[in-house]
Amino acid sequence: MAESPGVQRGLEDVIALESRICFIDGDRGRLLYQGYDIRDLAAHSTFEEVAYLLWYGRLPTATQLADLRRRFGALRTLPTPLIDRIQSIPTESTPMDVLRTGVSELALFEPDETKPGSGSIGGAQRLTAALPTIIGTFHRRRAGLPPIRARPDLSQAAYLAYALLDREPTELETKVIDVALVLHADHELNASTFAARVTASTLSDLYSAVTSAVGTLKGPLHGGANERVLELLDEIGTPELVETVIKAKLSRHERIMGFGHRVYKVEDPRATILREWSRKIGESKGNLRYFEMLRKVEEVVHREKGLYPNVDLYSGSVYTLLGIPPDLFTPIFAASRVAGWTAHVLEEYEDLRLIRPTSKYLGATDLSYVPLAARGG
Ligand code: ACO
Repeated sequence: MAESPGVQRGLEDVIALESRICFIDGDRGRLLYQGYDIRDLAAHSTFEEVAYLLWYGRLPTATQLADLRRRFGALRTLPTPLIDRIQSIPTESTPMDVLRTGVSELALFEPDETKPGSGSIGGAQRLTAALPTIIGTFHRRRAGLPPIRARPDLSQAAYLAYALLDREPTELETKVIDVALVLHADHELNASTFAARVTASTLSDLYSAVTSAVGTLKGPLHGGANERVLELLDEIGTPELVETVIKAKLSRHERIMGFGHRVYKVEDPRATILREWSRKIGESKGNLRYFEMLRKVEEVVHREKGLYPNVDLYSGSVYTLLGIPPDLFTPIFAASRVAGWTAHVLEEYEDLRLIRPTSKYLGATDLSYVPLAARGG
């Protein structure tokens, strides 16, 4: 549909609210959480530190960090009726649908954590701790694996890897999952965070806001893109065919997943970091095929369309080499972004203003009501 004057389709470039949580410089390819550069955080911090930073606006002390780790460990166990419920979901369901249902149902067991307001920090920690268990419970059942043990001894990254792989992850595997969790934890007013803030702005509760966010993240133009990148690589098959297949897709005006971004006009800094990890994991597994194909895809897409990679281009290759099935890529994203969603919801409660834009009406006016009996057919 053509753009009407005064309409900002997709709310592009609209500044909808003020926030202190995350800053993106789309022209220079910079991403900051609470003022800290994502490159420093990916190199030196952990997901737990980043979650604390997003919620409290400052890096934790050693004691605060240890306390948050303990809380995550203690909050991983799900209520038994919720485990039973997940065990009864059809195994062919998509994990993102299960996650959306799981988040929504968890609220029924946590009445004290669901009140809107600053007290929702308890709910933020509970949801962040519980998401890997919800994902792991469903995945392990459909894979015929024994039920997950909550494992309070593990970091969030190690626990998530353990939940999905059914084995102790290596140090390198834990590190790469931790980096992925750090990189995905927040991204300003992306679609799912906006959905969470819209829900919270009606004074609805944190769990409802996160349920909205999970449903929004599911879409292939947002969190679902990395799964499609792997489908693309499988479709291409070998590095020699990259040029032909990509050019053919572009000539049919198909979108190449993992490229382009609403805010970044240069390379997404998260893609830069994950590219390096894709190479490292490829080397450690003795399989650089994905890495080499993706480099070639990058070259062709940039040459033909001038587009840069986004965070989704390399993450799927990393997860696949770890042995994680593609339909769990977006749930991993959610297990990280939940920290950002909840930080934004808490911020929304502090400076609440109902989010309610308006639309330009294109329909008819002044129609005369026709009684049902006079409408024929
Ligand atoms: N492949 C091919 N062409 C593209 C792509 C792409 N991935 N992305 C944008 N374009 C083209 C569009 O066709 C359009 O071309 P045109 O002007 O000739 O019609 C132009 O670039 C502008 O595209 P828009 O859709 O207007 O840009 P927008 O800011 O709305 O899109 C989006 C951003 C949705 C991310 C888009 O780049 C896209 O669809 N990418 C693929 C999906 C993807 O990788 N999503 C993950 C994003 S990151 C995240 O959510 C974590």
